[in-house]
Amino acid sequence: MFLEKLYLRKIRNIKEAVLSLNPRTNVIIGENAAGKTTILESIDILSRGRSFRTNKIDSLVKDGEKSLYIGATLGDKKKKLEVDKGKNKTKILIDGKEEKKQSKIAQEVAVQSIHPNSHALIEGAPSERRAYLDWGLFHVEHDFKTEWSKYSKILRQRNEALKNRSSEEITWMRQLEPIGEKISSLRENYVNDLQKYIEINQKYIMPDVELKFSYEKGWDKNKSFLEALAEKRDTDLEKGYTGCGPQNADIKIIMNKKEAQKICSRGQQKLIANIMLLSQSKDFFDKKKFPSIILVDDLSAELTLEMQEKVLERLFETKSQIFLTALNDSVLADILCEMDANVFHVEHGEITQ
Ligand SMILES: Nc1ncnc2c1ncn2[C@@H]1O[C@H](COP(=O)(O)OP(=O)(O)O)[C@@H](O)[C@H]1O
Ligand SMILES: [Mg+2]
Repeated sequence: MFLEKLYLRKIRNIKEAVLSLNPRTNVIIGENAAGKTTILESIDILSRGRSFRTNKIDSLVKDGEKSLYIGATLGDKKKKLEVDKGKNKTKILIDGKEEKKQSKIAQEVAVQSIHPNSHALIEGAPSERRAYLDWGLFHVEHDFKTEWSKYSKILRQRNEALKNRSSEEITWMRQLEPIGEKISSLRENYVNDLQKYIEINQKYIMPDVELKFSYEKGWDKNKSFLEALAEKRDTDLEKGYTGCGPQNADIKIIMNKKEAQKICSRGQQKLIANIMLLSQSKDFFDKKKFPSIILVDDLSAELTLEMQEKVLERLFETKSQIFLTALNDSVLADILCEMDANVFHVEHGEITQ
């Protein structure tokens, strides 16, 4: 769903602001440290309860204030979403009614971000790539969230039993198996669904390389999960935790027949990460028939102008609602201001439209 209005209060250097948004393209222009990224972070916090820039949400509360406030109305449904975040307490409201779970808002607004650290999707730990997959599955695959919660709970119980060398671990292992297989096949199918979009985006953005993506289940692919679990039982008992399963899954990215992690430059990693994120939001739109939201912070960081233009073109193809930041008087700002977009100028936390 797209955002129609955004209300911000007491976030970093922004005291108070109301933004009337374009359903498609929103451009945020300003000097360094003006508050551009802060606007993007707000949307991320509203949706996921987290910021792509920092884990320390407390640091977003404006100096001298006790809490921050982010509100938004949704375009189609006219729903109102609100987050009030203090040091130790977060209040989430949908249409004025308090909700316990952040995921209730995440279900309404699906937010992804492309930012100067996006290359972590390629060179970071497997957990980065699992989070990427699970973002998509959470939104497009109805069963995924429940299956994953069930799996995590049983996994914790089995690990506890392994630590205590209790024979109950076998019971948990048997329960783990069917859910683990299900999660794995949901993820595998999802990666297959993404391939066609990845191919199109890659031909456009990185035509000179060969890229291959495959899902690695987290256990020997020639074995069933139960066989793999049984084989690892002794080691698991020794170590006190379950050593194989979807919790260890990864996406293997091969560029020109070599592991992308090992051979890609920073710039190439960014491009591959962009290709992955763009493909995911296109898949989202095709399946859900409504847009996701993409936050794009400073596209000019480490991408050539030619690449920025290519990524921009593919971004618009996703049909998402897009928020882009650019520095005052930059070439990127000139390009973005030419577009059919709502443009916001930010200066010392003051936003004008
Ligand atoms: N908790 C806070 N309270 C007040 N100001 C803050 C806080 N955290 C950061 N700032 C300031 O807010 C501004 C926002 O920065 P940022 O959004 O990163 O700007 P931009 O993306 O335009 O470069 C910076 O000037 C920063 O020093
Ligand atoms: Mg910034």
